[in-house]
Amino acid sequence: MYDVASVRADFPILSRQVNGKPLVYLDNGASAQKPQVVIDAMTRAYSYEYANVHRGLHYLSNLATEQYEAVRGKIARFLNADEREIIFTSGTTEGINLVSYGWAAPRLQAGDEIVLSILEHHANIVPWHFLRERQGVVLKWVDCDANGDLDPQAVLDAIGPRTKLVAVTHMSNVLGTVVDVTAICKGARDKGVPVMVDGSQAAVHIAVDVKTIGCDFYAITGHKLYGPSGSGAIFIRADRQAEMRPFMGGGDMIREVSRETITWNDPPMKFEAGTPGIVQQIGLGVALDYMTGLGMANIAARERSLRDYAQAKINGLNWLNVQGNSSTKGAIFSFTLEGAVHAHDISTVLDKRGIAVRAGTHCAMPLMEHMGVSATCRASFGLYNTEAEVDALISALELCRDLFS
Ligand SMILES: Cc1ncc(COP(=O)(O)O)c(C=O)c1O
Repeated sequence: MYDVASVRADFPILSRQVNGKPLVYLDNGASAQKPQVVIDAMTRAYSYEYANVHRGLHYLSNLATEQYEAVRGKIARFLNADEREIIFTSGTTEGINLVSYGWAAPRLQAGDEIVLSILEHHANIVPWHFLRERQGVVLKWVDCDANGDLDPQAVLDAIGPRTKLVAVTHMSNVLGTVVDVTAICKGARDKGVPVMVDGSQAAVHIAVDVKTIGCDFYAITGHKLYGPSGSGAIFIRADRQAEMRPFMGGGDMIREVSRETITWNDPPMKFEAGTPGIVQQIGLGVALDYMTGLGMANIAARERSLRDYAQAKINGLNWLNVQGNSSTKGAIFSFTLEGAVHAHDISTVLDKRGIAVRAGTHCAMPLMEHMGVSATCRASFGLYNTEAEVDALISALELCRDLFS
């Protein structure tokens, strides 16, 4: 186990005050804070080591290319993938759109189906809706139960003869439920159906092994992994890459261009058009080093104990309605207050106490509708949060209850 106090000292923002109070940052599900090593690496890259990648033969271009390409290897090791199966993206949204435009759009016909879970973030919904709108693809939804659990068998039962893809999250950004994607992938593979897994939340909190999971596509986003915004990647298994057209066209993704013809570069470059987020990806590499330095098993254990601590406190509050109670749940709590207080009012009161949570629909409107709520407040914990911060949240919520009752 790592020392939380010294980890906190690695994140400069955690020492600041907000509204005259020490910052309690519980909005990690939206985006995580950055350790100084990431900030320093990006400053160094821009200050002394910057040039475009893959293009120049000069010293700085080679240096930047080396550093940038080394991150592909780090991501591959982080996910237990092969390097050539890692495609750099600006985040999960781009990754899923790549699969939608590059793999699904050329293959799916009107009446073909995509199976989705109700737990999905809009990033794993809207690209499939595009296919519904443009190509007549049918979206088949699988609900979670009252605890927020998604039964893998229900997902597999939804697969019919016209199902061409299952798109499912590994961890709900609203309820914290960790989905048994390994069971889903195994069953789907037996039926010959590929699976797109949205790993945006899960990869932050638990060790991910795409080979064990057996997925075809697995998307991650750097800014939740304590790295920069605009960084990320998607794992696409080599056989699926071979079935794909490029999504965006431009420099780097081609081998030759003439007036009449183009030929594509080999994967993964085939899927990476234009100047990428060079320094962002370098920053992500350092963030992954930071996480693996602490140890993913240690991070998971630490966050489990924080979740249990928070859960025990929250269990005693009968005026707080917490959504989802899965036994697999990570340290994410979505809640509303008894009565008609809007989630935005709660988050405003918390903000006055220096506590940052997210309020709204969390880019998961179908899930909100399924749960019968218009909005929730969400406290989402990260590797640097503490029991004292849970206590601060609880006492601020007690204040809300007194104010609004
Ligand atoms: C589960 C899930 N999927 C996808 C995304 C989208 O990630 P990004 O906006 O970084 O592309 C998020 C971000 O909130 C998320 O929580």
